[in-house]
Amino acid sequence: MTLGPPPRRQRRDLAPGAVHLPDWLDHAQQRRLVQAFRDWSAGPVPIRAASLPRGHQMSVKTVCLGWHWQPYTYTRTADDANGQHVLPLPDWLIAIGRSALAQAYDSASADSWHPDTALINFYDDNARLGLHQDKDEIVNQPVVSLSVGDTCQFRFGNTTHRGKPYHDLDLASGDAFVFGREARFAYHGAPKTYPATANPAAGLAHGRINITMRVTGLH
Ligand code: SIN
Ligand code: MN
Repeated sequence: MTLGPPPRRQRRDLAPGAVHLPDWLDHAQQRRLVQAFRDWSAGPVPIRAASLPRGHQMSVKTVCLGWHWQPYTYTRTADDANGQHVLPLPDWLIAIGRSALAQAYDSASADSWHPDTALINFYDDNARLGLHQDKDEIVNQPVVSLSVGDTCQFRFGNTTHRGKPYHDLDLASGDAFVFGREARFAYHGAPKTYPATANPAAGLAHGRINITMRVTGLH
């Protein structure tokens, strides 16, 4: 028996508006994101595990661009940390998000998309993100998610509750995932990461970085 090459991971439309684009980022882009992540993590508002309203800390660590996010609000300054302004959302990152959106939807959708924030999450081997909706943004504009480093299990569900139906899929280094339109307020989460699964060419020795670019609708 001969083993052929592994099957190519292909674009998948999970629901209207929810599109998985595997291997969207090349290795150079992934390394650029890893380096940028290191720079962003240093501050002016350093990466931290945000506190939930009842006092628990998230297992995921987060650094923000454009707007500062804490559960469950956006502010201009990091009022739950050192009070500083976060760094701006760079145009080169928006351009990567737009290219993913053009592929997932169409170029008109990409051209009219103006994200004003990015949340950058770092997952160590034990970090996880429970099922939630991204609903601190007040407009229905797509979210573009980029993943670098270890693969995670990603759960993408429906817009009404945390239960079935949902899809479980792997988000690997270089994958993009777009959710907008009817799927914009779908429940989703990252129940587990798979340690030591990253391609070393991505430039991240351990853990997983996820970047979500969003339009807050805030002024
Ligand atoms: C998020 O839900 O905001 C992040 C999702 C992910 O880590 O893939
Ligand atoms: Mn989310």
